[in-house]
Amino acid sequence: MNTPKNPQLRKAIRDRHSFFGNNPIIVKLLDDIQRVALKNTPILLDGETGTGKSLLARKIHDLSQRKGPFVSINCATFSQHLLETELFGHAKGAFTGAKDARKGLVATAQNGTLFLDEIGELPLDSQPKLLHLLEEKTIRPVGSDKEYNTSVRIVAATNQRLKDLVKQGLFRADLYYRLSVVPFTAPPLRERPDDIEALTTTFVSQLCEEHELSKPSISTESINALKAHDWPGNIRELRNHIERSLLLGTPLHEKLPINKNHSPATSTRCLKSLEKAHILKVIDESNGNKSQAANNLGISRRTLDRKLKRWQQAA
Ligand SMILES: Nc1ncnc2c1ncn2[C@@H]1O[C@H](COP(=O)(O)OP(=O)(O)O)[C@@H](O)[C@H]1O
Ligand SMILES: [Mg+2]
Repeated sequence: MNTPKNPQLRKAIRDRHSFFGNNPIIVKLLDDIQRVALKNTPILLDGETGTGKSLLARKIHDLSQRKGPFVSINCATFSQHLLETELFGHAKGAFTGAKDARKGLVATAQNGTLFLDEIGELPLDSQPKLLHLLEEKTIRPVGSDKEYNTSVRIVAATNQRLKDLVKQGLFRADLYYRLSVVPFTAPPLRERPDDIEALTTTFVSQLCEEHELSKPSISTESINALKAHDWPGNIRELRNHIERSLLLGTPLHEKLPINKNHSPATSTRCLKSLEKAHILKVIDESNGNKSQAANNLGISRRTLDRKLKRWQQAA
């Protein structure tokens, strides 16, 4: 029997729904990605945590028709020395304990894609080596004097503003410009609330299958509450919230994480004034476009107009 503990099954269920969305920003993003996926240029993905950068990297590889594998490494989890041997491999006897030569991830990803996650954490001293790989298409394993030709597509991701790191002297400008020839930004979930319903439906189906639960129906109240939420942890946070709710059997609109914008001063205000402040803020964020604001709030344009009229009359 397929058990939920089977990691392959979990992965298969997840992979069935790769990066998707109907919000115009996402549609344009996927369109642009489709266009460059077949080329060999490096791609830089930026965006807040949980916005789907890793998923996008995978998607780029799937669309690229490259025959080699997708290989991923998180630059934040290794020391400089380990990261370099991990990436470029090492020669026999390169350092104590290096009994045999070992090939690195660049070689493993030959003819495929190497995904460098959290590229902003790449140590300054390792950055020239990556630049060399990008420019010369060759690598030299640690402790070796031979150069090897490579054919690998580099996709890098960051949740930091690399430009700021360049200004602070933590990231080489030349590497930044080489990496950011084709940059893409994964938008935060709060900028695409119109996708929340489809994402929620998909995650509920996936997670019920994964945990062998029967699928609950999703109320409009839940969808509206999910749309009104900030989601600082973006899609990852939404998915985790849904998983927790399903496992505990609580409705999706309950036990939402506290919105980060709600300061203690506002939390003691009455619900009506909070509602008004929130609605005005959303209209402001939508540059006064009321239809878009209503959409972002998860209410109809008519409801929004009615509320505004009531406040005008009370003023
Ligand atoms: N557009 C999307 N469609 C479906 N699932 C998504 C999407 N974006 C992110 N996810 C899900 O959200 C979680 C976080 O995505 P991930 O790619 O790891 O984000 P990041 O790398 O930006 O931190 C994963 O569970 C992923 O499956
Ligand atoms: Mg990631």
